[in-house]
This record gives sequence, C-alpha cells and structure tokens, in this order.
Amino acid sequence: MTSSKIEFLYLNEQDMIKAGVLDMGKCVKTMEEVFYLLSQGDCLMGGPLENEHGMMLWFPEERRGPRMPVAGPDRRFMSMIAYVGGDFHVCGDKWYGSNIENVKRGLPRSILNLTLNDPDTGQPLAYMSANLVSAMRTGAVPGVAAKYLARQNTETAGILGAGVISKACLKAIAKTQPQLREIRVYDLIMEKSQAFARQMSEELGLHVVAVDSLEAAIADSDLISIATSGHAKVNIKTEWLKPGTVVMLTGTAQLADECYLNNTVVADNWKMHQAWLSEAAEHPKGIDSITEWAPTGQLLKLIHEGRGKHESVINLGDVVTGKRSARKSDDDIILFVTGGMPVYDVSWGYKVYKEALAQGIGQKLLLWEQPHWA
Ligand SMILES: NC(=O)c1ccc[n+]([C@@H]2O[C@H](COP(=O)([O-])OP(=O)(O)OC[C@H]3O[C@@H](n4cnc5c(N)ncnc54)[C@H](O)[C@@H]3O)[C@@H](O)[C@H]2O)c1
Repeated sequence: MTSSKIEFLYLNEQDMIKAGVLDMGKCVKTMEEVFYLLSQGDCLMGGPLENEHGMMLWFPEERRGPRMPVAGPDRRFMSMIAYVGGDFHVCGDKWYGSNIENVKRGLPRSILNLTLNDPDTGQPLAYMSANLVSAMRTGAVPGVAAKYLARQNTETAGILGAGVISKACLKAIAKTQPQLREIRVYDLIMEKSQAFARQMSEELGLHVVAVDSLEAAIADSDLISIATSGHAKVNIKTEWLKPGTVVMLTGTAQLADECYLNNTVVADNWKMHQAWLSEAAEHPKGIDSITEWAPTGQLLKLIHEGRGKHESVINLGDVVTGKRSARKSDDDIILFVTGGMPVYDVSWGYKVYKEALAQGIGQKLLLWEQPHWA
C-alpha cells in the first residue's frame, strides 16, 4: 500500500539565504528560462484568461466592520498563483500583505510567503519566506531584459530610486552587461542615493555615483532602470534620452505619450497587462484605478483611448525564443515594462527549494500521517 503521509519543507528567511536565494546569476538564468516557457505557452497564471497577476483584496475607503482595514498607501493583500512547466513542473501561490505603516513598526512594507505544490496531487512541497524571492526575481527580470534589449557595449546606466528593488535590478543588470563602467543613481533623498552608491560600488566593484538631478542620471545613459515608489512619479523628458537607450520600468514613471507611441515597447507578458485593463473596466474608478500604480498605466490608458495598439507591444519571451526581434539598430530607443508575475516567484522559489532539499536545509513539517477523512 502506498503511504498517504504528507510532509513539506518549511524554509525561514535564514534557510532561504543558506539555500542560495541571493544568487543573482542563477536567478537571472531562471527568469530567462521562464520567459522561454512563457513564449512556448508552458506556464499558467490565474483566471479564465490564464494571465492574472494576482487576486487582490482591496480595502474599502470607509470601514464597514469594527476592525475592517481601510484603503491606504500600499494597503493590500494579494494572492499570486501560477503553474510553471518545463523542468519545473510545479504550482505555487505567493501570498502577501502590504502596509506602508509597517515601516514605522520596523517591518518591511510587504510580508510575503510562498507555497509550492505538486501539480498532480496538490500536496504542499514547501512553505517559505518569500521577501527575498520576490526582491531577487524582480531585479533579475530587467537583467534578462538588458541582455536582449540593451544596445551593444552598454557602458553607462541611470538608476532611478535607491530602494531595495533598484539594488536587485542593478545587481542583475551588472551580470548581463559586462561592459558597464559608470552608474548614476538618483533618489529624491540624497542620503539614500549616496548610501546606495557606496554599497553598490563596494559590492559590484563598479563606479556608482549619486547625482542630484533626474536629468543627470538619465542623460548619456545607455540604460535606465526605474524603481521608485510612492506618488511622486519620475517625469522623464524625451529629449534627455540618448539614442539607443533602453528604459526599464519596474516601478511607475511619467513619459511623454509620444515616447510610447514612437518607440518599441517590450513587455514581460502583455496579456497580463491586458487583463489589468479588462479589470479596470469593472472597477468603480475605471481606467484611473490602474494609472496610478501599474507600470503600464499610461500605456494602457493610451490604448484605452484608441491612441495605442495592443499588437504593437512585443513580449520579452518571444525575443528570448527568437520569434520576434526588438532592437533593429543601435539607435533604437526601447521601453521595457514589467508588472511582476507569479511565475517568477514560483520558479525561483522552486529552484531554492530544490537546493535546500539537496543540502538538507529547512525543517520538515507534517501535514498528516494519514488524512482523517479520505
Ligand atoms: N514590477 C515588479 O515586479 C515589482 C515588484 C516589486 C516592486 N515593484 C515596484 O518597485 C518600486 C520600488 O520598490 P522598493 O521596494 O525598492 O521601494 P522603496 O520605497 O524601498 O524605494 C523607492 C525609492 O524611490 C525613491 N523615490 C520616490 N519617488 C521618487 C522620485 N520621483 N524620484 C527619485 N526617487 C524617488 C524613494 O525615496 C525611495 O528611496 C515600487 O514602485 C514597487 O511597487 C515592482
């Protein structure tokens, strides 16, 4: 008789570090595999269109129960589900809560965890701390995008926003852009730019300098990576952009509408952004419900108004597999937009889980010896 006992691996944040969650080279390679699988159709995400970023718990503007949370900056819960195929063949759910007030409590803004499941039986394989999974995979994606979209001999980069995500983005970009020699970082808070420049110079052995204006970070940069947070979006003037630059939006930014309409736009997975647009139609605030926070909010609005076309956006996976080409010349300006997807979390979490298993890291927890009701 086969055993019906189920155990799964519990991995706390220290276990995740021991198992290699911070290995950016491996994470970039994993994201590249995922883009390949996405282009082959060997991935699934939630919803009938298979491309939902996640299911969000929106808190109302006014309290409707004595303890019900209300809407606020970065106040949400989100469940992000996916199946990743290929050699991964695994399902998972990244589930997180986010609240800007956490920072005052000495906690990260978002607290994330990831469950991995066997896609055939549904049994849990692992339950893990996922803050680092999430930050690493977010950074790794522009690393892959730079590999396929940046002009040859990319030497200079502008980093906008000096937070955790920008650090991860720069670490990944440095992996795929070996010619990089000068990086300029701009943050609204100069001390943050300076601390970022010091830390990244030391860790990457690159010349990273803090600059005091947006223009100084952008002008003459072959590559621009945007990961600012909050309502004060960076406002990028087209004339600052050097011919051939690739602008990567991990966070939001304001660009001239023509910048989207006249240049090549590449997305992590456009169908997911289309799903956001469909959902906006059902939201009481309509299209305005997404323009504020979605990195593609401005582009989706242009499409919604009939000024842009879904078909003109290229998927990065199709560039990775060679189905489409994005860069036609060294002078092309390319915009890369990424909204974040659960396939990234599930794939990177799975790689770390496999490493933890191989090294005997983590704690086995019992779900049941045998199910009480079978
Ligand atoms: N696309 C994805 O997959 C994905 C995943 C995770 C996070 N994100 C986004 O990445 C962004 C950065 O996240 P984080 O955790 O690093 O945030 P963070 O708050 O730690 O850092 C952001 C930094 O941006 C700076 N900033 C804000 N407005 C600015 C402006 N106009 N000009 C220059 N600097 C400005 C802030 O001072 C801060 O230092 C957020 O918008 C977040 O939503 C995207």
